[in-house]
Amino acid sequence: MFTNETRTLVGLDVGSTSVKLVELSGNPGAFYLENLALAVIEAPRDEAAVLAAVRSARDACEEGGRRVVGSVSGPHVAVRSFHFPRMAEKDVKGAVRYEGSQVIAFDIADAYVDYTAMKTASDSRTMDVLFVAAIKAEVDSKVQLMRSCGFDPRSIGVDALVLLEALLAAQEQSATVAIVDIGARTTSIGIARRDTVPFMRDVDIAGDTYTRTIGELLGIDLKEAEKVKMIEVATNPAVAQATGTVTRHLVEEIFRSIAYYKSRDDGSEVDRIYLCGGGSGFPDLSRTLEEVTGIRVLPWSSLELVKVDENRFDKATVDHLAPFVSLAAALAMAEGVH
Ligand SMILES: Nc1ncnc2c1ncn2[C@@H]1O[C@H](COP(=O)(O)OP(=O)(O)OP(=O)(O)O)[C@@H](O)[C@H]1O
Ligand SMILES: [Mg+2]
Repeated sequence: MFTNETRTLVGLDVGSTSVKLVELSGNPGAFYLENLALAVIEAPRDEAAVLAAVRSARDACEEGGRRVVGSVSGPHVAVRSFHFPRMAEKDVKGAVRYEGSQVIAFDIADAYVDYTAMKTASDSRTMDVLFVAAIKAEVDSKVQLMRSCGFDPRSIGVDALVLLEALLAAQEQSATVAIVDIGARTTSIGIARRDTVPFMRDVDIAGDTYTRTIGELLGIDLKEAEKVKMIEVATNPAVAQATGTVTRHLVEEIFRSIAYYKSRDDGSEVDRIYLCGGGSGFPDLSRTLEEVTGIRVLPWSSLELVKVDENRFDKATVDHLAPFVSLAAALAMAEGVH
């Protein structure tokens, strides 16, 4: 049967402070923005509040599509690379499962497991395999959340890997790049070169760490601290000094990840670091990271790969949301739009 219906895919990023939704049509050559929404989670860590925010993001989309890609990250996910002697396709699965069960922090029987043999390996007698395991209960609850909001879940990705995939598509073949998504609770770091095993790591220093530091210093609660965050950093030298320490700790973690990546067998110098996430705009963060690493640091959102019709979307709003919706947009690209 032939149809003129435009097939779209929704990327749904359920963050710790807000839900981001991006709906795209098109294909990797040309993606088009169909819908864009950000809904604040009124009571973080509260299941009903998360559900309400997902519904609110969905309802903000006129005639929104239902096919959705979600993601998991943090301690619920393990990403590793294995260097095997070259073996037949049918043997890889068992080898991966055995190796994986030895190195992950949770029971492999409780996990969904996936793997990819990388296209390039250092020589023809060996192979590099990327191994991903995610705790079943976490994936299932994400799928359940999406279904209960009327979505049709198509796949679940891993935050940093999905961001890297979108970022690498926009880079020259030989570039080694890092993406750093600074959210509220987590900073996700991904480093890779095309066709090589990526490195990823989640760090628990992010926007909330700044908020907590400010709250403690001023003796105010987190909600209040979140409200005055940027004002206090700009106007109160004691706050600026304390948040400067947070920045240095975060930068140190990113620097260490880069150093680790470089020390791997197939590691290489990182050419550029790209920042996204709501916390990435924190004053002096980008400059400090550039000074410490000696690597060029740039803001980047997957939304840059998307054509936006300015008759349908307000440019200022899209620009403002771009760092927040980078993951959601990358998720909407992750599967291609079939
Ligand atoms: N202009 C700004 N400058 C610095 N930080 C900001 C700015 N705007 C928002 N933030 C911070 O960004 C964070 C929220 O970003 P984001 O929406 O990316 O997080 P999240 O996806 O909900 O969290 P996570 O990814 O950790 O689950 C909050 O800590 C907020 O204080
Ligand atoms: Mg996030």
